[in-house]
Amino acid sequence: MRVFVTGATGFIGSALVPELINARHKVLGLARSETGAKSLAATGAEVHRGSLEDLERLKSGAAKSEAVIHLAFNHDFSKFKENSENDRRAIEALGSALVGSDRLLIITSGTLLVAPGRLATEEDAPSATSDSIPRLATDEAAAAVTARGVRVSMVRLPQIHDQNKQGLITFLIDLAREKGVSAFVGDGENRWSAAHLSDTARLYRLALEKGSASRYHAVAEEGVPMRDIAEVIGRRLRLPVVAKSPVQAAEHFGWLGLFAGLDAPTSNALTRERLGWDPVGPGLIADLERAHNLEI
Ligand SMILES: NC(=O)c1ccc[n+]([C@@H]2O[C@H](COP(=O)([O-])OP(=O)(O)OC[C@H]3O[C@@H](n4cnc5c(N)ncnc54)[C@H](OP(=O)(O)O)[C@@H]3O)[C@@H](O)[C@H]2O)c1
Repeated sequence: MRVFVTGATGFIGSALVPELINARHKVLGLARSETGAKSLAATGAEVHRGSLEDLERLKSGAAKSEAVIHLAFNHDFSKFKENSENDRRAIEALGSALVGSDRLLIITSGTLLVAPGRLATEEDAPSATSDSIPRLATDEAAAAVTARGVRVSMVRLPQIHDQNKQGLITFLIDLAREKGVSAFVGDGENRWSAAHLSDTARLYRLALEKGSASRYHAVAEEGVPMRDIAEVIGRRLRLPVVAKSPVQAAEHFGWLGLFAGLDAPTSNALTRERLGWDPVGPGLIADLERAHNLEI
């Protein structure tokens, strides 16, 4: 299959592109810079120059392909609302190029905000809207495009890790270095789910090959307590591990305060069943024990 991949130069895209090419798919990858275009071409992918803001280029990439995997997102969290609205427009543009066809559009979202406080399953639609949680613009755009008759799959990601990056935990590590302490909120029993990068790339490929419109959770570990995460960060950086009250958390964590205290365990049962996906990569704590970004 010829697949248009946005975010092909990013953390997950850089693992997904070889996964697809090794399985004999053809990749048309979006690149917004010369550097990105060069590194993408070196993997054997075809390069499609453009950006998330250039909706015509997104449409032309989608129009040339038999399926689309959308991974690009601008992670400047100081402009979270604006970037989430850009994602909405990008998804609507990609979708508009697929209306009237049976070509699959695979969209990426997160697990953290699906159903905080209880186990989230693939059947759960987010209960909030983008008015209160900006990133839900992604889910709303997916619903809008589905309503236009496009076949849409949603892959929800937890903290995706290898030894170089670990989702939002990468930012917790930077914060611990900056503040001189590794912190968790309350008793630290709140959980974040996680998956290894290689398992995540394989899940996207399986979702593409399966071809049905569905919701998937790329979750290998249902919930890792934040206290365990803070402890390995503290141990590796030789920093004290401290508890913050919910009130102190807003000040300590800054923009990460929205997420740090969330209990967001997430099930993968339906995903395993629907895709025959079996995650085998190292766990989050094992990767943090060896992470290069925790070296001092
Ligand atoms: N990693 C995780 O743990 C995690 C967890 C939950 C959800 N997600 C979601 O998964 C998706 C992929 O994440 P990631 O970790 O691979 O992100 P990443 O490493 O930050 O990569 C982002 C990708 O988007 C591209 N991009 C950003 N702004 C763009 C723009 N204006 N125009 C065109 N391309 C643009 C980047 O291109 P450049 O290479 O040119 O910068 C890069 O290819 C995102 O939607 C993210 O929110 C990730």
